[in-house]
Amino acid sequence: MEQTAALKEIAQQIAVCQRCELHKSRKNPVPGAGPATAEVMCIGEGPGFYENEQGLPFVGASGKFLTHLLQQGGYQREQVFITNVVKCRPPENRDPQVDELAACAHYLDRQIELIDPRIIVTLGRFSMARFLPDVRISQVHGKAGYVDGRLIVPMYHPAAALHNPNLRSVVEADFAKLPGLIERANQRIQKIKEEAARLEADQTDQDNPAVQLKLF
Ligand code: URA
Repeated sequence: MEQTAALKEIAQQIAVCQRCELHKSRKNPVPGAGPATAEVMCIGEGPGFYENEQGLPFVGASGKFLTHLLQQGGYQREQVFITNVVKCRPPENRDPQVDELAACAHYLDRQIELIDPRIIVTLGRFSMARFLPDVRISQVHGKAGYVDGRLIVPMYHPAAALHNPNLRSVVEADFAKLPGLIERANQRIQKIKEEAARLEADQTDQDNPAVQLKLF
């Protein structure tokens, strides 16, 4: 199935999902938004009040700040796929619970698999923990690393910077690193492709009887 259609199908599954208690209090599920071919994927925590009203991710105050941060990184928000670790609003914006995170993980896994982004930006500790369970965000924010073959960059949640003005310039500086990180990720992929092509060419040579017989 084509990527966009497959993402729509996931959104439809989320719309009728009853895997955890959050479905009971949601107004609208918030599957995520953005192009199926996005090179950057941002993963937040869970929908808040405005997201629950509109069925769209990051449309409130932290969303406005996220739009600004992405611009710092050279991206328009429309170029980025934005989603959350839980797709329905936790009541009163409480932290998502372990069983809710587990119930929703399958949808996020499928979205990542389909979009296959060059880089995943985690926003806040709940989405960071999905990839880096044993680290503190204060130690790793803005640093990129490969987890299961995917480039992950943990960032502070935009809301944290709105609540703590000292974090604002830190988060802005972290997002400004995005173009350099993408460039490095692209170079790495190019190298892997070249190496694969070289190995294939070597193999073809070895399958050639003229080479096997050392004929000139
Ligand atoms: N905070 C999040 O983590 N996600 C949203 O979609 C909105 C606010």
